Amino acid sequence: MKNEKRGEFKSNFGIMMAVAGSAVGLGNIWRFPYMLGENGGGAFLILYIVMVAAVGLPLVVGEFLIGRATHRGVVGSFRRLAPGKPWVGIGYLAIVTGFTILGFYSVIAGWTTRFLTEAVANNFANQSASEITTSFNGFVQSGWQPILYALGFCVLCAWIVGRGVERGIEKFNKILMPSLIVLLVLLALNSMRLDGFSAGMEFLFKPDFSKITSKTVLDALGQVFFTLSIGMGVMITYSSYVKRDENLPRSKAIVAVIDTSIAVVAGIAIFPAVFTFGIAPSEGPSLVFLTLPNVFAQLPAGYFIAIAFFAMLLIAAITSAISILEMMTAYAIEEFRISRRAAIVYISAGVFLLAVLSALSQVKDLNISLFGLNIFDFLDTLSSNYLLTLGGLFTALFVGWAFDVKLLRKTFTSNGRYSVGFYRPFLFVIRFVVPVGVAMIFLSKIGIL
Ligand code: PHE
Repeated sequence: MKNEKRGEFKSNFGIMMAVAGSAVGLGNIWRFPYMLGENGGGAFLILYIVMVAAVGLPLVVGEFLIGRATHRGVVGSFRRLAPGKPWVGIGYLAIVTGFTILGFYSVIAGWTTRFLTEAVANNFANQSASEITTSFNGFVQSGWQPILYALGFCVLCAWIVGRGVERGIEKFNKILMPSLIVLLVLLALNSMRLDGFSAGMEFLFKPDFSKITSKTVLDALGQVFFTLSIGMGVMITYSSYVKRDENLPRSKAIVAVIDTSIAVVAGIAIFPAVFTFGIAPSEGPSLVFLTLPNVFAQLPAGYFIAIAFFAMLLIAAITSAISILEMMTAYAIEEFRISRRAAIVYISAGVFLLAVLSALSQVKDLNISLFGLNIFDFLDTLSSNYLLTLGGLFTALFVGWAFDVKLLRKTFTSNGRYSVGFYRPFLFVIRFVVPVGVAMIFLSKIGIL
């Protein structure tokens, strides 16, 4: 099909929810607690918050400027702004990153779906902490069960993205995001009743700076990129559908605050329970899944809360996964002139293949690994700590140094209407602070600094 019409978001609230929906996902509720737990707690939180403000927010704005100036997908944008230059490589990098992230993301989303079905069947109620762990391990080690759930998730996301920008993405996000926030706050309030509340709070909020190493810093940076959906053109793609002149820096600051708050609220909901039930904070990717069912089992209305929580986590995963899928779909439609449906089918098939590999690599008996990590951990670390941060580094360099300055200013201020005073500080940060900061973190990780 030729000339597939480009979609557009219809309302400012819809855009905001779609962007927040992309940002808020498994990254906040599953990944943030497990990264924080592996990296010693409070000090990681501080690093993370500083980097959200200094690196994350400027890059969200930077990506929005690119999409707004071009109304193209991730590859087309760079091609249009810098024809014949190597910057377009950032676009191709984004596509690779999209596959690597969805390859493990859909597995975790599949775990979430499995927990949702367990919750509906009321299976947590009579289980002890060790029984919950055993049943979870049985599920992961079966190999085929996580694959089946991941398949279900891929099909669902493909269906939503297939409906297009306004009917699919905007509509779903508008309903799903607000309900997510309400549920999470309720869960955090409930944490105050747990025995481990003060131990959990101490772990989360009392920094121990001796825990900071070059790994911690890179992990925190990777988490910032992952959680804000930056460094891979998702924000470029979403902003290319925005027709209205909104106040860009302000609306993106709101999204960054929402995203960070949700991660912190998730931490408040989870760490008291971790300490109450004697689970190791450094448990890894299964942390949330092993911890929370114990909380639900003990609660008077636990049956309903469990269902609500896993439904919410699944929703968060969907709204994020569809943003990645949309980024890749927009690219394929523009680049190969194929229909939206065909693009989605090919891309989802590729994603599912990777999901199969990462699910199987968690089966201990099969011993599938790459560079000493199982494929799941490999994809997770590779994408967040390296691909996203590199994508972000080059995007910052592009916006700061290669983007036509007049056009940049015009796009940033919506033709002089908003945030004129923020333009210069933004330019300084995107030119110097972001590239130098990210480069230094890399160099110190590989031992040069
Ligand atoms: N930000 C999403 C989350 O926190 C994940 C994501 C990463 C989405 C990169 C889009 C791009 O779960």
